[in-house]
Amino acid sequence: MFILGIETSCDETSASIVRGGRKIISNIVSSQTAIHKKYSGVVPELASRAHLENINWVVSAALSQAGLKMRDIGKRVAAISYTRGPGLAGSLLVGQVAAQTLSFMRGARLIDVNHIEGHLYAACLERKDLRPPYLSLVVSGGHTELIIVRDFGKYEYLGGTRDDAAGEAYDKVAKLLNLEYPGGPVIDAISKKGDPESIRFPRPLMPGTWDFSFSGLKTSVVNHVKNNGLPGPDSKALFNICASFQAAVTETLTEKTFSAAKHFKLRKVVLGGGVAANSSLRKAFLKRAAETGLDVFLPSRALCTDNAAMIACAGYYKLKKSRAGKGFSCLKAQKIEPSMKIRNWH
Ligand code: KG4
Ligand code: ZN
Repeated sequence: MFILGIETSCDETSASIVRGGRKIISNIVSSQTAIHKKYSGVVPELASRAHLENINWVVSAALSQAGLKMRDIGKRVAAISYTRGPGLAGSLLVGQVAAQTLSFMRGARLIDVNHIEGHLYAACLERKDLRPPYLSLVVSGGHTELIIVRDFGKYEYLGGTRDDAAGEAYDKVAKLLNLEYPGGPVIDAISKKGDPESIRFPRPLMPGTWDFSFSGLKTSVVNHVKNNGLPGPDSKALFNICASFQAAVTETLTEKTFSAAKHFKLRKVVLGGGVAANSSLRKAFLKRAAETGLDVFLPSRALCTDNAAMIACAGYYKLKKSRAGKGFSCLKAQKIEPSMKIRNWH
């Protein structure tokens, strides 16, 4: 069975065809980075307009790359899985209307997926052996969440960010240092030239809670720049700030995740979200895996950032879990949910 996934929650317009829940046949991602770069962040109004311009060709390309036609929707493509939230309202609306229209016209099942759920399942697309229970850290521009996936659709939320998400901290620190947007990949690259131990930025570990907080760390970088001046482009001082900031983020995320795995006696740890593409974080997770004997699942970089294949994968398991004939009708009212919380499937 093929599923068409559609993802438009932020600044990537993506459509994908996934077979049997885990096999990616096509995964088209149209990035809007070039549009938002000059504003050092995503401009919601521009994002929704760009989604509108791109959604038709992105869906067509996903179908044709999979050797499918529009008329296959509702037949070989049994269902359409789309991101309902959380995300930017205008951006979500474009993907949702596209999914609803196709589903309505072609009679395909309609499955609404939480964006974070997509990130939880991204690793399943490459590791056929990955099955719940597992602990997942979703780190992106909008989220830093620790969630136990007890079963497909059965989640235990441990904690999340109280202020800035990890990716947001990367983007804000990059802006402060006059680096390009998105800041994560730039800081990641620059850090390789710096000494991660040159500046001791705080590790916001917050004992007694599984929540995260990165605004204090970001303020420490601001204060360091205030006290020492803005480093020049291509200077050793810039490389050292980036490497030291990255070391603090990496240590905080790694410590907290592996403590949770130990506490809840979970043997599998999964990383997801844009920041999961970070080289230092990936290295730290693999190192801890080797030390502890835990299994670590790291999606390839293209599946860490927003994409529709992960939405199709989550939709597949949601559809499988649904009782025959109940729910997921294309005629059911679908609310837009910009701040949707992760919920268990019933
Ligand atoms: O998951 P994602 O594509 O979109 C959201 O749902 O937010 O994540 C985007 C975030 C941005 O903040 C970006 O700076 C960060 O992921 N990111 C990285 C790296 N690549 C992307 N952060 C650190 N290191 C990277 N290599
Ligand atoms: Zn995301």
